Amino acid sequence: MRNILTGIKPTGMPHLGNYFGAIRPALDMAEEKSVEARFFIADYHSLNTVRDAKLLRAYTYEVAAVWLACGLNPRRILLYRQSDVPEIFEMATILMAFTAKGLMNRAHAYKTAIELNRSKHLSDDHGINMGVFTYPVLMAADILLFDTDCVPVGKDQVQHIEMAQDIAEAVNHNYRENLLVIPEAKVDKNLMSVPGLDGRKMSKTYNNHIPLFASEKELKKAVMKIVTNSQGVEEPKNTEGCNVFALFKLFASEAEKRTLADRYRKGGMGWGEAKQALLSLLNSRIAPMRARYDELISDTSVIDAILAEGSRRVRMIAAGTLRRLREAIGVDPS
Ligand code: TRP
Repeated sequence: MRNILTGIKPTGMPHLGNYFGAIRPALDMAEEKSVEARFFIADYHSLNTVRDAKLLRAYTYEVAAVWLACGLNPRRILLYRQSDVPEIFEMATILMAFTAKGLMNRAHAYKTAIELNRSKHLSDDHGINMGVFTYPVLMAADILLFDTDCVPVGKDQVQHIEMAQDIAEAVNHNYRENLLVIPEAKVDKNLMSVPGLDGRKMSKTYNNHIPLFASEKELKKAVMKIVTNSQGVEEPKNTEGCNVFALFKLFASEAEKRTLADRYRKGGMGWGEAKQALLSLLNSRIAPMRARYDELISDTSVIDAILAEGSRRVRMIAAGTLRRLREAIGVDPS
């Protein structure tokens, strides 16, 4: 059995880029045979930036509802909320003693925060809390507590996994080999890149994203904003480098792709019509998931029950690891 684990920071509605770049590949990976999968909502990681109780609670339910609506089967994948598992925070305290401060100084996210301060002529530490500084330690605790072999993540998280490896190795070096499992990052290399409305990588930062479960009206508004060239209706069009086609491709079957590509080649299809084709396709693929999402969000008791069961089960795994670790470090009664 291989243990896979991934965490999702609750910070608002994911977009299509997150769906194809993170949600879909992680769910597919969890479907593989001989895999035990644990997915959790990293709410204490969000606390570093989300300081509104209502908002944090809403984001947390949103993330749970999104993953369940996208097909997360809670019988195969344990889904839990980080804050429901106190063992993680004891683990973080233990790991803190084995984490070099210099290692944290090198974290990309922390360094970026400092650079941003410098660019604004603020002091280096301005607005940076210890939660941000020690973020990789909490993340290492999330991972190492469950003897995780493999962490499906995006490229931006690879450094964090390498830090978890370093921290685990520091513990093992002091006590014994194999006390903690050394985790590997799994970055999907054949991921299709998802372009945003303006053709750059889809990202909230660029404000060029399409929210995964936007209403039909919002979806239409976003699709109509997609940047195209200025070719007229009658001109034959190229599928290469076309943002509309690139988004269409993600959801389309081979036959659907061929049909649209043919119409592009022949000419006679204007951008308005092409966008309409994309919109219908998006709607047809997303609507069933969106209906399930709306249902889950309107009555959160189903999510509550799933999260309660998830945390109950992972806490048993966590207790085992902690017992082993406490004994190794000498904080248990003799
Ligand atoms: N840092 C991750 C992100 O920002 C979220 C996360 C927290 C995570 N703990 C984790 C991911 C453990 C994988 C494993 O997306």
